[in-house]
Parts: sequence; C-alpha cells; structure tokens
Amino acid sequence: MKYDNRPIGVFDSGLGGLTVVATMKKLLPHENIIYLGDTARVPYGDKSPANIIRFGIEDTAFLVTKGVKLIVVACNTVSAIAIAEIRTKFPNVPVIGVLEAGVAACLKAKPKYVAVIGTRATVSSDAYRREIHAVNPEINIKTIACPLFVPIVEEGLADNEISRLTIEFYLKPLKKKTPDMLLLACTHYPLLKKSFQSYLSKKVKIVDSAEACAKFAEEYLRENSLSASKSAAGTERFYVTDMPDSFFKQARKFLGRDLEHFQKVSISEN
Ligand code: DGL
Repeated sequence: MKYDNRPIGVFDSGLGGLTVVATMKKLLPHENIIYLGDTARVPYGDKSPANIIRFGIEDTAFLVTKGVKLIVVACNTVSAIAIAEIRTKFPNVPVIGVLEAGVAACLKAKPKYVAVIGTRATVSSDAYRREIHAVNPEINIKTIACPLFVPIVEEGLADNEISRLTIEFYLKPLKKKTPDMLLLACTHYPLLKKSFQSYLSKKVKIVDSAEACAKFAEEYLRENSLSASKSAAGTERFYVTDMPDSFFKQARKFLGRDLEHFQKVSISEN
C-alpha cells in the first residue's frame, strides 16, 4: 500500500471552515492538515465575484507553497463562485469544495423540496440550484440569503433570542410549505443547526455542507490513493491573516477546542 503523508490544505474566508476541520479530524485522524483563515478579509459573502475569485486564488496559492496534496475549499462562497478559476490556475493540485460535497449529500438523500440557505454571494451565484438541477431537475429548490447568520454566530449568539428572531425572519416562508431538506450552504451555519431544527419540523433533514465536505475529502483521498499512513497521529497547523481580540473565543466555537500551532501571515498581493 502506498501512502501520501503530504498535508491537506483547507481554507475559508475566516474561521467558519474550522467546522470542516473538526469533522476531518474525526474522520481522518492520521492526516496532516494546514488551515488558512483569511480573517483579515472576512466576510467574503458580501463581496463582488471578482474579489471572491481573487481572494480564493490567493488563499490557494498560499497553501500550494506548503506542498499540499489536496485543497479543500471550506468556504461556500468561494466554492460557489471561484472554484473553476482556482482549478484552472492550479491544475496540478486537486481541489474539492463544500458546495460539491453538499450537493452530493443532498442528491444522495433524494429530497423533493430543498431549501438552500447561505450568504448573499452564494445565493446570488445560484450555483447550488445549477449543480443540483444538473443531476436532478425535478427537485424543487428554494434559496434564501441569510446575511445576518454569520455575524450572529461570530458574536456567540447562536442559541439566544436574537438568533431565534432572525431564524424566524429568514425561514418563515418555509413554514407555509415545509421543505423535506434544509441545506446549510455556509460553514458558519452548523452552529445554528439545533436552532434550525427546533424552528422547523423535526422531519426536515438538515444537510450540513461542512460535515459533508469532510466525508467527501475522506472518500477522495481513499479513491485516489492519497491517504496518509496510519502509523502516526496527524499534525495540524493554522494560519490566519489577522488576529482580532475575539480570535481565540471564535476559533474555540468552530473547532470545539482551543486552537494550537497557529501563526499570522500576510497573503494578499496588494
Ligand atoms: N464561511 C463563509 C461561507 O461558507 C461565510 C462567511 C463569509 O461570508 O465569508 O460562505
């Protein structure tokens, strides 16, 4: 058996992608992970496509310099808008993203009516609808941009009156005609999963694109003979482009533990 112990590069606009790392650590405990969070420029979700593409390419370029064997785009906004450009720019490194993982998990469950929630940029791109309909045009899809959920999660208000009111504000239309699936098309949203479930009927299946992405990465490595040897525990290294005061508290929320082995870097070309 051949092993590949090079690290996996994971990036997000900020710390939301740590929800992907948290699941990857459970599924792939022997893999070495390098994470980049572009905390200086988060959020990407309200930026223009041109800037989202530029940021995605700069994030990938940084990880490529670390000799990664696979890039995992743990940001739905970049996955929805910039993944084709990233693949063209870096043809020698495989690139997978939360969007394709979320779409695959959605299709596997064969829903009839799916509500997709995400940032403004993700929803405006209509990428989820396009990708789901490319395989199954029969699925009824409703997309809702929910820009307030990211700051709510970042402020630690995921389980509070403010989040309940905001969930009602955005998801009320789903009460009239309840979907059989809610697709969380943003890596910040897993922290609101319980609140979504209690607002909607228990029968609504919630697909978390972050969890789906970690599973997708595990399958990709296995199918492409890229798995690391199981002889040692994987290492992790975190890079961020800014460290505001709230940094540690937020990282703990998304990762479920304290962040160790981190460093601040500069990646922007201008
Ligand atoms: N993590 C981003 C995503 O999954 C949301 C935060 C942002 O707007 O950058 O789309």
